[in-house]
Amino acid sequence: MGGRLILTARDIRALKGERRLAMLTAYDYPTALALDQVGLDVMLVGDSLGEVELGYDSTRAVSLDMMEHHVRAVANGATRTHITGDMPAGSYGDPRQAVASAMALVAAGAHSVKLEGALIPQVEAILDAGIPVMGHVGLLPQTAEGGYRKQGKTMQDADRLVAEAIALDRAGCFAIVIECVDADAARRITDAVDAPTIGIAAGIDCDGQVLVSTDLFGLLPDPPPFVEARANLRDLMQGAASEFAAEVRATAAPRLPRRTPAP
Ligand code: KIV
Repeated sequence: MGGRLILTARDIRALKGERRLAMLTAYDYPTALALDQVGLDVMLVGDSLGEVELGYDSTRAVSLDMMEHHVRAVANGATRTHITGDMPAGSYGDPRQAVASAMALVAAGAHSVKLEGALIPQVEAILDAGIPVMGHVGLLPQTAEGGYRKQGKTMQDADRLVAEAIALDRAGCFAIVIECVDADAARRITDAVDAPTIGIAAGIDCDGQVLVSTDLFGLLPDPPPFVEARANLRDLMQGAASEFAAEVRATAAPRLPRRTPAP
């Protein structure tokens, strides 16, 4: 796969209707190094890192500093894959702050940024600064109250989501994540916009799919029910670690030099 060029945001937008897009999250150097070899379209340094890498109970615990740190690690490992940096909660309250935060993520190595919701002034300001933006509709973990519930189940809610996605599309987003949305509503959104949609728990009719990589790899004990883990890294790690510990304990205890008693 040597020599593959990084897809630009424009390339990715143009892939709608051509082929499906595959995006996975990555948060660190070794994962980025490994995933860079498999031909993903996008690596998302998601703010899900707060929950799945750092052990917080919400993405709201993630700061811009943390995102920069992890984007830098991923950019050190990925040289062929488009990297999108997630804008964390509190980093895009108004257009000026949004541009400064987006610039910080690009300086850390992201090719584009993602933000949650139809915040059109923020999206337009970031685009005016020359930074491509990925939209995100449906479940918005940074502001979700009362748990992660399926969105777009009523006609009215589906209409709202379609309207938000159309606004993001018209503003110029190069792709739009649809998270935890009823499959029929996700299909309506996908049909209504020119940008490719990338779904997670949103049915099979989106233009692409994204998963949180730790869920796909079986690294955490309780993955969400919609993910079919394709590996069991947790078992592999525990197996390797306990084998190591058993081997170390099976060898003779290290002989420490006797201290000569003081005269
Ligand atoms: O933060 C994240 O990983 C995300 C994906 C679930 C799309 O936003």
